[in-house]
Amino acid sequence: MKQKRVYLLGTLIIGTLVLGACGSGNGTGADSTASPTDSNAIGDGGTITVYTGRHYGIEPVFEQFTADTGIEVRFTTGNDPELRERLIAEGANTPADVIMTADAANIELSADAGVLASVDSDILTTTIPAELRSDANDWFSLSQRARVVIASTERVENPPTTYADVGDPEWQGKLCLRPSTHPYTQSLVASLIIAEGEERATEIVQSWVDNDPLYIDSDTDIYNAVANGECDVAIANTYYLGRLLTEDPDFPVEIVWPEQDERGAHVNVSTAAVTANAPNPESALALIEWLAGDGQQQFVDANFEYPVDPNVEPNEIVGGFGEFTADLDAVRQLGGNQPAAVKVLSAAGYE
Ligand SMILES: [Fe+2]
Repeated sequence: MKQKRVYLLGTLIIGTLVLGACGSGNGTGADSTASPTDSNAIGDGGTITVYTGRHYGIEPVFEQFTADTGIEVRFTTGNDPELRERLIAEGANTPADVIMTADAANIELSADAGVLASVDSDILTTTIPAELRSDANDWFSLSQRARVVIASTERVENPPTTYADVGDPEWQGKLCLRPSTHPYTQSLVASLIIAEGEERATEIVQSWVDNDPLYIDSDTDIYNAVANGECDVAIANTYYLGRLLTEDPDFPVEIVWPEQDERGAHVNVSTAAVTANAPNPESALALIEWLAGDGQQQFVDANFEYPVDPNVEPNEIVGGFGEFTADLDAVRQLGGNQPAAVKVLSAAGYE
């Protein structure tokens, strides 16, 4: 009974926040800890508290973790920056055992603020490639999310195959992009800076702007804009197409893997960390190990993302997008290059 109440709380939170999951970086957070609690000892394995900026399909994943381990999960959703700020403000009094993010930069900023714990886990270091976890072992990627070129299957014969090609004059008035304020845009431009240098990255972004793009602050809306003919090409995350194809197998938009002769497509990651002041650090680590191990398939499939464990296959629809080379080398540099990315976007007049 108590278990159900915990998850009902989570359901309500998700219900109010799902629109903000990939919306602007300034959404409001939900506060499960503001609700009355009468016990910390629910279930055989106790209860842990998770702050998560990664929302999609998370509730059934936590339910399965509880079924497997007996550890209950109380979770609070919000956007990555506000959950980080909350963790920092709470300091030693935080109830959070685990923090999860939807991108690499935000977990790096948490690490820099000293609110993450370094952990010693053979399971995590053998399962997760070194490019996808910190050297200090204070955060770990749990899934990869690729941001790629997308194109109409009805109107585009030769889509761009590099991010720079999106700036070709051929796409003048036919391009849709996410605004500069969104972390997805900033991380993409950070990856351009890492690969090509700030000067060349500015030229590329300027060429996008010169194509007079339609700015849309939702990847789902971007996919629909390509399908509807508002634009022919765009840049978006692949997992949204997984969702759209589930509803309509003939959805007329395709993924074009960029930079396949070079560094690979830009990928960001979902991450998790044990907090420095976790009340239940052992159970916190158990959750992260489970998400990287027994729960990895369910976690990535819940949002059509790519596994971090090379031995786990992506979901069937995701597998249909084909194999690709990912720009893994950049992942741990995205956070450090975020300020430069903001500067480049501003200099290019990117809205
Ligand atoms: Fe998203």
